[in-house]
Amino acid sequence: MFSTLNALAPDPILGLIALANKDPNPNKVDLGVGVYKDESGLTPIMSAVKTAELSCIEKEISKAYIGPAGPEEFNSGIRELIFGGQHSALESDRVRTVLTPGGCGALRVGAEFLKRCAGDATIWVSDPTWANHLPLLGNAGLKLAEYPYYEAGSADIKFDEMMSALADVGRGDIVLLHGCCHNPCGADLSETQWRELTSLAAKNGFLPFIDLAYQGFGRGLDEDAYGVRYMAEHLPELLVASSCSKNFGLYRERVGSLSVVGEKAAQSDALLTHINNVVRGNYSMPPSHGGAIVGEILADQALRQSWETELAAMRDRINRLRVLLVDKLTAQGATRDFSFIAQQRGMFSFLGLSVEQVEQLREQFSIYMVGSSRINIAGISQANIDYLAHSVAAVLAS
Ligand code: LMR
Repeated sequence: MFSTLNALAPDPILGLIALANKDPNPNKVDLGVGVYKDESGLTPIMSAVKTAELSCIEKEISKAYIGPAGPEEFNSGIRELIFGGQHSALESDRVRTVLTPGGCGALRVGAEFLKRCAGDATIWVSDPTWANHLPLLGNAGLKLAEYPYYEAGSADIKFDEMMSALADVGRGDIVLLHGCCHNPCGADLSETQWRELTSLAAKNGFLPFIDLAYQGFGRGLDEDAYGVRYMAEHLPELLVASSCSKNFGLYRERVGSLSVVGEKAAQSDALLTHINNVVRGNYSMPPSHGGAIVGEILADQALRQSWETELAAMRDRINRLRVLLVDKLTAQGATRDFSFIAQQRGMFSFLGLSVEQVEQLREQFSIYMVGSSRINIAGISQANIDYLAHSVAAVLAS
């Protein structure tokens, strides 16, 4: 049975962890996997998370099953975080949310649910998109297609081409969108572009599936949810996957959510039964611990305030590093214009280097990034930024 299978190549993103870890160079810089790091290179446990975790352990009196949808405290808290307290879709009771094992779990449950709704559906993903979108959606049986999104030359979105490609996508098909902090390119749709895209979805009838993995890491918790909230207000149906890996720093606890917006409350109730049924037939129900922590933070005013302050500090640090990196690259004599890095948002940007240049940075300078030259800005620090800028400038000049 097993003898026909050969080993696979390492995952293009996760494979970098092992490579960087075993590099003995004390100057190595790991800009690979998208985890937030502080100045000392540590991925910290947020203080609100630590406090809420202790309180959850203290309060927990049973380990009985929590059911496929997860606890209501998490689901209602995260729903309000995503859609905003006063949203018309919440007021008309059109949104149902379940706790999932990470944003990946949300994408996969969403994809299986969509396969059930429209067996022949194609899901359109941006070119480029996060590498793991392809197996998460494709392995659920959805057909995949790409729409143009990012132009390397101008380091910007090619919105007109994107809209022309999506003009041919109609009812029964799905368009996957990055809610904010586009992974991998860091170039986000403007509010005007979200509105234009919403009009196109309303006219053509395709279903938007929004991946909101980085809420709070770009411009702010509310600002980063603009696209989700606008679409939920103006379209009859929508799917949203969110992640608490980055904004709560709960990576290994696997906490995320899937929200479905239906046309009417009764329809949304029916949709929830299908989502729960997909979950039941997959992993039966989500783990409880991480969701309980998030539920506790969102329900407690003091914890929530502390969390928002810490999240803002992480966001500000990334945005400061973006500006500083552009300055340092210029100071090191890099002839290319890198100013786009300061304008983009979230953890990632492309440096715009070739695969060979990325390899050269790894082999000669112990600088690690994804083969597409995607860097995790949060991996930069005051201690390594000069070395990084010097190395990139050297590779560009060679
Ligand atoms: C990334 O893009 O680096 C993160 O989302 C981690 C992952 O699972 O790929």
